[in-house]
Amino acid sequence: MLFKPFEFGELSTANRIAMAPMTRSRTNQPGDVPNQMMATYYGQRADAGLIVTEGAPISQVARGYSMTQGIYTREHIEGWKQVTEAIHQRGGKAFIQLWHVGRRSHSSITGLQPVSASALKDPDQVFGPLPEGGFGMIETETPRALSVEEIQATIGDFVQAAHNAMEAGFDGVEIHAAHGYLIDQFMRIASNQRDDQYGGSQENRMRLMLEVVEALVDAIGADKVAIRVSPHVIEGFKDSDPEIVELTLKAIAKMSRFNLAYLHFSENISRHEEVPESFRQQVREVYANPIMVAGKLTKQSANALLDKGYADFAAFGTPFVTNPDLVERMKNDWPLTEFDPDARLTLYGGDERGFTDYACYQG
Ligand SMILES: Cc1cc2nc3c(=O)[nH]c(=O)nc-3n(C[C@H](O)[C@H](O)[C@H](O)COP(=O)(O)O)c2cc1C
Repeated sequence: MLFKPFEFGELSTANRIAMAPMTRSRTNQPGDVPNQMMATYYGQRADAGLIVTEGAPISQVARGYSMTQGIYTREHIEGWKQVTEAIHQRGGKAFIQLWHVGRRSHSSITGLQPVSASALKDPDQVFGPLPEGGFGMIETETPRALSVEEIQATIGDFVQAAHNAMEAGFDGVEIHAAHGYLIDQFMRIASNQRDDQYGGSQENRMRLMLEVVEALVDAIGADKVAIRVSPHVIEGFKDSDPEIVELTLKAIAKMSRFNLAYLHFSENISRHEEVPESFRQQVREVYANPIMVAGKLTKQSANALLDKGYADFAAFGTPFVTNPDLVERMKNDWPLTEFDPDARLTLYGGDERGFTDYACYQG
């Protein structure tokens, strides 16, 4: 199944293997601009049916990590063009992940106080400037609550970012509604204690996500819009949320009518709960359109998900870091290069080392 072409609406891909979005923080400074080194990296991996490029902040206040490439200035658009051209030259397809971190930030990164559903924070750290110089992990700052007018403006930022992505040559956009970032903060009780139409009931807590989806569908068309959620992940929160699974199921049932390019489940990063098979069945009862799954998948487990009809795409993260030719290796059952924990420091920031210098299989 993994190697069969995929078609849905305007989106067609050579296979069902996706490269999962991975922040690698290798921008040109100042301005956090995508560069030729990134184009080389993504071009090397364009055998993937679909590449989802790393989270791209949609505005200055949406930024939570230093050196991540934005999609809100003219320079960003021009920089991303090199990346989409490199992917398209090799016959690949590219969606950009649109990112607003909400409270997972600090004013030393953006010059602005972080924003969220409510003025609440959990213990949490992000990559930013250290007081003693250089970069490292710093504690996040307490956010301020967005006003209703500011929420509308934030939706406008998502729309502008989607238009920018189209101009940069992307085939679509993936809304980042996972991993404890802004949209997830609106969905969970611990971070959303609003008493207006964006807080309280489950319907109100899913409102921002649905409004962003609808605005982007109107702006660029449903087959260019996807969304990533992670109801079983506890990233950015102290505890799991008692209602997030139920809320997610209700929200995706409502999203069915949009006919999005795909719905992406991130299942297995940092702190998470195992996804029960019953959840996959419940998802399929309310959602018949394309689904992507990511999280510690192997060729075998990915094929099993596809064969059972629980997913249409399998996304791989870390295996794509170390295996630029992952698709060929899987197709031929060639061994994979495993990630060396000593190379951890090359994941975020730095130069070509640990980025574009992983070799294809030599036999
Ligand atoms: C270095 C690194 C950076 C990541 N950055 C992002 C990101 O920007 N957005 C996102 O949604 N997930 C991000 N993830 C999570 C991956 O998309 C993926 O879900 C995760 O690595 C699990 O898949 P894997 O086990 O195949 O690596 C990142 C993962 C890694 C290893």
